[in-house]
Amino acid sequence: MNAEQNIQWFPGHMTKTRRQIEAQLKIIDAVVEIVDARIPVSSRNPDLAGIIGSKPLLILLNKCDMADAVITAEWIRFYESKNIPAIPVDCRSGKGINRFKTVVKDLLSDRLKQYAEKGMAGKPLRVMVVGIPNVGKSSFINRIAGNSRAKVANRPGVTRGNQWFTIDRQLELLDTPGVLWPKFDDTTVGEHLAFTGAVSDRVVDTELLAMRLLDLLKADYPDLLTARYGAVDLSVDSYELLEQIGKKRGMVIRGGQTDTERAANMLIEEFRTCKIGAVTLERIPDAKL
Ligand code: G4P
Repeated sequence: MNAEQNIQWFPGHMTKTRRQIEAQLKIIDAVVEIVDARIPVSSRNPDLAGIIGSKPLLILLNKCDMADAVITAEWIRFYESKNIPAIPVDCRSGKGINRFKTVVKDLLSDRLKQYAEKGMAGKPLRVMVVGIPNVGKSSFINRIAGNSRAKVANRPGVTRGNQWFTIDRQLELLDTPGVLWPKFDDTTVGEHLAFTGAVSDRVVDTELLAMRLLDLLKADYPDLLTARYGAVDLSVDSYELLEQIGKKRGMVIRGGQTDTERAANMLIEEFRTCKIGAVTLERIPDAKL
């Protein structure tokens, strides 16, 4: 998905997605929301809670291979304190995925019991998968369902065109109808999405973005910065720090000046590819549940 091209569609298309999700709510039993473990706040759609209302929710903290494991554990405890089961997963390697089925069936155990009591033991649980673009929704569905796309012919309430997947006899997944946009219009959210590459950085000033990333890394991960870039002075402002980093990498242009744009691109690339280390940019107090 090219988020850059579509950025201007928000929020008109959110209205469309809201309607599409609402139309399916009657026939699903729960919602699984995939978030990026590095930015658990910015990678959520703030309208989702209002849209799904009282439907049981489960959160997958994806890309946990790139996030700070200590902070991921804190996020899991935080969600659980709100009665939302949460699982750390890495959909690229498949780590953590196996727990999904057990946790969903636990969450919906009353529903399964009801089906059994009413002689409908064969009726599967239906769960809708949602997530902003690039969060790893396709990777998750591929991991958990493989190619088992379900047949959707003539089932009451099931809209043709929606993508259903059979996980096992008791569980079916529905891919989100529509695109669930993040809250691009919030500057911090936009920056955090750009750091992770969820939004193309061609729409933002790279040097400014790198400086903002350095602000966060200086505060929370100073040791990772010095481990990666050597003895840099972390007490200077982020532009000077970017210059130091560029100089250390030999990014010097005529007149001995540092090529800060090249340094900025390198820093962001090294962050995205986890060369700086496993980092989480958002903490519990940033959450607004
Ligand atoms: P989407 O459907 O939500 O839009 O996301 P998608 O699954 O296409 O994943 C977006 C990118 O994130 C992909 O990388 C994917 O491989 C990567 N990804 C998904 N889950 C994880 C994870 O748990 N850990 C890591 N490290 N990466 C993950 P890409 O560069 O766009 O594609 P590719 O390099 O995999 O081909």
